[in-house]
Amino acid sequence: MTRARAAVFASGTGSNFEAIMNAGELNCDITLLVCDKPGATVIKKAEAFHVSTFVFDAKTYESKAVYEQEIVEKLQAENIEWVFLAGYMRIVGPTFLNAYEGRIINIHPSLLPDFPGKDAIGDAFRAGVKETGVTIHYVDEGIDTGPIIAQEKVLVKEDDTLDTLKNRIHQVEHQLYPRVIRQLTTK
Ligand code: GRF
Repeated sequence: MTRARAAVFASGTGSNFEAIMNAGELNCDITLLVCDKPGATVIKKAEAFHVSTFVFDAKTYESKAVYEQEIVEKLQAENIEWVFLAGYMRIVGPTFLNAYEGRIINIHPSLLPDFPGKDAIGDAFRAGVKETGVTIHYVDEGIDTGPIIAQEKVLVKEDDTLDTLKNRIHQVEHQLYPRVIRQLTTK
């Protein structure tokens, strides 16, 4: 049986990328990291795992359609079947979505549909909710809106600071994402 090939997309630290790489059996091979931030820490992490990287700077392209077309060509040339967004801070456009429909997955640090957007943990903390969590979902044209695949709750403790809450949410992410990837890529 041939194993599916997958790409992770990330823009920053890459703790989820690292957790996915360290998770062991996934039923797919992560063969590419795509990053839109030259110099991001996640690039060094990919190199340490001997995963090839495609780094681009959106500012140097005429439009989203142009850079997404280049990404799609790269993914297709490398026979990538699945795309896992892990802290990729860009909205996916129609060029990419149409080429990989139903094959682009995202992780988001809240219980969607609550707290979409860039600062989900901070927004939940400041709202004073008693529980928040992590969502893994299919990507559609909206921001953090596609069909939900899995969610896990994280309770907010009385003495939580933003940092302690962030840490617990990230720990849940690092367990949940590999588990969901394993399930999705089981043929
Ligand atoms: C994670 O909290 C993820 O849910 C969100 O961006 C963050 C990325 O963190 N989409 P890292 O780069 O994986 O450490």
